[in-house]
Amino acid sequence: MNSPESTDGTTPHPTPLGVAMIGYAFMGKAHSNAWRNVASYFDVPAFEQRVLVGRDSEGVAAAAKKYGWAESATDWRAVIARDDVDIVDICAPGWMHAEIAIAALEAGKHVLVEKPLANTLAEAEAMAAAARTAREKGVRSMVGFNYRRVPALALARELIAEGRLGTVRHVRAAYLQDWLVDPESPMTWRLNKEAAGSGALGDIASHTIDQVLFLLDGQVTEVSGRTHTFTTRRPGPRGLEDVTVDDAAWATLTLASGAVASVEVSRVATGQKNSLKLEIYGDKGSILFDLENLNELGFLDATLPVREQGFRRILVNEPEHPYMDAWWPQGHVIGWEHTFTHEIRDFLTAIKDGTDPAPSFGDGLAVQRILAAVEESSAAKSTLIQLTTHAAALVPAAAPEGA
Ligand SMILES: NC(=O)c1ccc[n+]([C@@H]2O[C@H](COP(=O)([O-])OP(=O)(O)OC[C@H]3O[C@@H](n4cnc5c(N)ncnc54)[C@H](O)[C@@H]3O)[C@@H](O)[C@H]2O)c1
Repeated sequence: MNSPESTDGTTPHPTPLGVAMIGYAFMGKAHSNAWRNVASYFDVPAFEQRVLVGRDSEGVAAAAKKYGWAESATDWRAVIARDDVDIVDICAPGWMHAEIAIAALEAGKHVLVEKPLANTLAEAEAMAAAARTAREKGVRSMVGFNYRRVPALALARELIAEGRLGTVRHVRAAYLQDWLVDPESPMTWRLNKEAAGSGALGDIASHTIDQVLFLLDGQVTEVSGRTHTFTTRRPGPRGLEDVTVDDAAWATLTLASGAVASVEVSRVATGQKNSLKLEIYGDKGSILFDLENLNELGFLDATLPVREQGFRRILVNEPEHPYMDAWWPQGHVIGWEHTFTHEIRDFLTAIKDGTDPAPSFGDGLAVQRILAAVEESSAAKSTLIQLTTHAAALVPAAAPEGA
C-alpha cells in the first residue's frame, strides 16, 4: 500500500494514493464530485481517482469518463486486490457494506463507507472489529455521515461543547421526505429488508441519531421506538411485491447526560422533500438548524437580559467557521454537495496525519445499536430498551474503536 509519508514520517511520498470507488449512482455521483474538487480547495495528500466499480461494464465505463475516474471495472474483489489501490470508497447499497469493507480492510486499504454502517448489528460489529484490527496496522476507516460536515452543524457542536447552551435538556430531530407518498411508486432495493436493512429508520434516522451523538458528544442509554409501514405492497418487475421495511419511524433516546432526544423520520411526509431539522434546548441557550437553509444556524443566548433575547441568525460563511476558509468570500453560500468534499478532505487528512477519522466504524456501530433497539422496541409495543445492558450483552468487548 502506498503511504503519503516515508518511514520517518516527514517526507512526502512521491506516489499518489490510488482511490477505488464502488457504486456510481446517487452517492457515487456525490462522492465523485467531492474527489474531483477536494484538492482544488483543501490541502490534501496527492491521490488519483484510479478506478470506478459497478455491475454493468458499459454503464460504469461511461460514468468513469464523466466523473473523472481513470478506469472502470465490474469485479470489486479484483479491484481491492490491486497494489495500486490504497483507498476504497463504498457507495453501494447497505447489503454490500460489510463484505466489501471487511475484505478491503483485510487487504490493507483505507475504507470510507456510506451510511448506515451496515444492514444489521452483527455486520456492524464485524466491521468495527475489522476496523480495530486494521487500525493497529495504520489502516483508517470512516463512515459517511456527511451532515457532520455541514459547517453550521460543526459550529453547533463547538458552541455546545463550549457550554453556550449550558446543560442540554432535550433535542428534537426530524428528517422527513415524501418520495414514497404514492402507493404506486415501484419497489427498489431500498424497500427490501435484505438489501436495505430497514427503511426510513436505517436510511435517514441513522443520520439524525448520528447528529444527536455528534452534537452532544453523547452516549445513548435507553431507547423506545416505533416503526410503521403505510404501503405494504408495491409494484415490482414480477407484479406486486411485499415491502419489508418501514416507511416512517419514531424514537425517544435517553442520553447518559440525562438529555432526551426525540427522533422522527418519514418517507411519506407529503410535501417534505429532504427536510432535516434539529433543535437543541439547553438551560442557557438553544440552537435551531434547517437543512433547507444550511448556511444558517439559529442561536438563542439565554444568558442575555431577557429583553434582548431572541433567536439570532448566524450566517455560517465566515473564514472563522468550520471548513469555510477554503471556499468563497463571506456570504457566498455553499451547498449540500460541499459536505462530501469536507468528508473526503477529513478522511485524506487523517490518512496523511496517521490519525483516526471520525465518525469511525465504532461510531457507526453505536448508531446501529440504537437502530436495532428502535426495531426491538417497536416489535415489543414501544417497550423501553436499556442500551448499555443490551449492548454489553451483545458485544462483550464493547470498547469504542477510538479508545
Ligand atoms: N450520505 C447521504 O446523504 C446518503 C444519501 C443517499 C444514500 N446514501 C447511502 O449510500 C449508499 C448507496 O446508496 P445510493 O443512493 O447511492 O444507491 P444507488 O442505488 O443510487 O446506487 C447504488 C450503486 O451501487 C452499485 N452496485 C450495486 N451492486 C453492486 C455490485 N455487486 N458491484 C458493484 N457495484 C454495485 C450500483 O450499480 C449503483 O451504482 C447506501 O448505503 C445509502 O444508504 C447516503
